[in-house]
Amino acid sequence: MKFYELTPQQRRDFLEQEGYATHNDARLLRLTPLLREYAADGMIENQVGIMGIPIGLLMGLEVNGKTYNVPMATEEPSVVAGACAGAKIARRNGGITSALWPVRVIPADIVFQKVPVSRQEEYAKIILGHKKDMIQVMKENMPTLTRHNGGIEGLTCDPIAKGKFWKVRIWIWTGEAMGANIANRLTEIEAKYIESLLGLKPLAAILSNAELETVGSGLKIDPDTLATKDETGMEVAKKIAALSQWAELDDTRAVTHNKGIMNGIVACALANGNDTRAVEAAAHWFAARRGRYKPLSYWQFEKDETGKTVLAGKLTMPIAVGRIGFSIKTLGTPELCQRILGAADLWEMQEVFGAVGLVQNLAALKSIATEGIVKGHVKLRSYNLARAAGAQGEEIDKVAERMMHHPKRTVRQAEIMLSHIRSEKEAEAAENLDPAKEEEKDE
Ligand code: MEV
Repeated sequence: MKFYELTPQQRRDFLEQEGYATHNDARLLRLTPLLREYAADGMIENQVGIMGIPIGLLMGLEVNGKTYNVPMATEEPSVVAGACAGAKIARRNGGITSALWPVRVIPADIVFQKVPVSRQEEYAKIILGHKKDMIQVMKENMPTLTRHNGGIEGLTCDPIAKGKFWKVRIWIWTGEAMGANIANRLTEIEAKYIESLLGLKPLAAILSNAELETVGSGLKIDPDTLATKDETGMEVAKKIAALSQWAELDDTRAVTHNKGIMNGIVACALANGNDTRAVEAAAHWFAARRGRYKPLSYWQFEKDETGKTVLAGKLTMPIAVGRIGFSIKTLGTPELCQRILGAADLWEMQEVFGAVGLVQNLAALKSIATEGIVKGHVKLRSYNLARAAGAQGEEIDKVAERMMHHPKRTVRQAEIMLSHIRSEKEAEAAENLDPAKEEEKDE
């Protein structure tokens, strides 16, 4: 039986049997929500409830020679299935390579207004000359950060729009934390120090979500592996390359192309307890950084080392996530998802997320290029509903087939169909046992 054909409990048993999850983790997965009311109340203002989002597993994603089962949290029915389909193509083609460059330091700004151009150089010299003192201020105020070797990596001073604004930028290393809270706290402390140093009152002290660290994920596909029952692999590959070119040339397509990538990345970020808005903001800033909104991935034909034509996909984007932090700890589920993912550190986790973005994008483009998104979604939803209604074995195909053509696709409707199918089967069996029928057959 395939993983998706199992019940949720059978899937958890499988994870435990195969050593992907401990007995305790498999039990915790069943006991969701892991978040208790007292913890939820401590997380946000005016808390009145807790919302559940399904967590699914992208099974068998090969990245840099290692195979991962990736937890994804999403409300969109086709996301995990799409990622699994993309990962299957990637497996047939030797997997994905992913690398990170350069490793993240968070930019955070202390901004001043109307600093005369004539004095900017002098102020910059004073600031840069006091780097050691700024580090001392950090050590005194943020001992935990210092103990973990985090903190100020660099300082720059830059004018914005000539004299309109002037900013001191601090580059901050926050280790495996996503780092927004750390960066904001440190910048506010240093803003006070700089105010006393220069006698200038800052307008603001705040991090920038412009994430400079990028993940590059690549995949080379033998076009034959894209064949469907109606089209050759090369026909499909050509359409994927054309769709990619369309996104390059038309920003209103690029945004949807990127939305497909974010379907995968945000689902990973959410399962792992991250601030998904920071991930989105950084990605879209990066997409538009050259003054025009661009796709975060492209697909084009290339020759591989043996001279064979391959469809090469490359995704380059920031993935602003962390592996430690308040929400990750409090929510409970993220730590569990991290154990299932099994990445050794934050950087490996980011490389895997990049690979998820690429296979998610591949699956979407293939679907658009072949059967079309709607047909694929309807089919998938119909199968999910058939299973949710309790259909077993060949019943699943039968219920799903009828659901595909039914205007009302709900679990209740699938249950009604399942009971019809079972009644029809019983009636058929009874008819076969009917002595009158048996006699008819004998004659
Ligand atoms: C749907 O959530 C995402 C897609 O629209 C992405 C795309 O068009 O590439 C299918």
